[in-house]
Amino acid sequence: MRIGILKGSFDPVLVAQLRYAEECVRRLHLDKVIFVLSSSGVNFSASFEERLRMLSSALSGREDYAVLNEDGPMDDAEGIGTVAKGMFPGAEVVFLPDETETDALETEARERIRSGRPVSGIVPSGAQECIYLEGIYYPETEREHLERLRCELDPERFSHTCRVVRQAALYAERFSIDYRKARTAAMLHDCAKCIDKPTLFLLSGESEFIPPILHAPAGAVIARNRYGITDDEVLRAIRLHCTGDAAMDKLCMAVFLADMTESGRDFPAVDEIRDAVWQSLEYGMLTALRYEMRYLKTKGSVVHPATERALTYYRTKEA
Ligand SMILES: [Fe+2]
Ligand SMILES: [Fe+2]
Repeated sequence: MRIGILKGSFDPVLVAQLRYAEECVRRLHLDKVIFVLSSSGVNFSASFEERLRMLSSALSGREDYAVLNEDGPMDDAEGIGTVAKGMFPGAEVVFLPDETETDALETEARERIRSGRPVSGIVPSGAQECIYLEGIYYPETEREHLERLRCELDPERFSHTCRVVRQAALYAERFSIDYRKARTAAMLHDCAKCIDKPTLFLLSGESEFIPPILHAPAGAVIARNRYGITDDEVLRAIRLHCTGDAAMDKLCMAVFLADMTESGRDFPAVDEIRDAVWQSLEYGMLTALRYEMRYLKTKGSVVHPATERALTYYRTKEA
């Protein structure tokens, strides 16, 4: 058995590093690659534990990859060799050469995440999941918002929120929308979701009691009062994320559509809506609103006047 050792900072782990490992497996006829997190020599942006979680998530499901650091940091080659041989007795251990471009790419990935840009194709999907769930590399205020939401939302709603943030970053890049605004609005869009309906009704300023949409207008109030958000575009995107409305700006449409199409969504028309969004935000809105209207009518639910306005508006846009 031949084992390759790939040491790196993995701050964060990159798609390029997994490709490099695959190439080493092929060229050097390796049976396994063991990834080792370096823990000295440079200043890391993420903690050792965060880097370990990102790396482990990126490698999960891969039988031919393993992480050596389950018991903590380890930096000397001799020690690493001994542990690797202990894990796979009798194996031949090969230390894989460092890749030269890695530092610059990791810096770029961190900068992208910090500024709200997406990292799909740069950071493996499993590692991205950790980043969005934990706010790794986020600026301090956004990380605080995320931690607060973790306490205020139930776990399912919280992971949905993190997936919406990830999806909104993709739309923001595709349609040239302010990344930080997209992240803030996406992060806080459901901030009122777990509050009781009578309180939501009071906060919402709505004249009619339509329970499923109340958390959106109430959310805008909470985002302002409790999270200190003063940007009107962000607050509007939160307020309109359930009903939509006529003439929404790009940020509003991106948040509305990210909420409906995040990777965890699984309803009959979701792929049709996803395809429509990539054509244009307006066409995405039309497709999403048509589906929503059909859905509400089948259920016999009340349709909010703003949703009616939105559908009429995006229909004329298409014509
Ligand atoms: Fe919502
Ligand atoms: Fe949502």
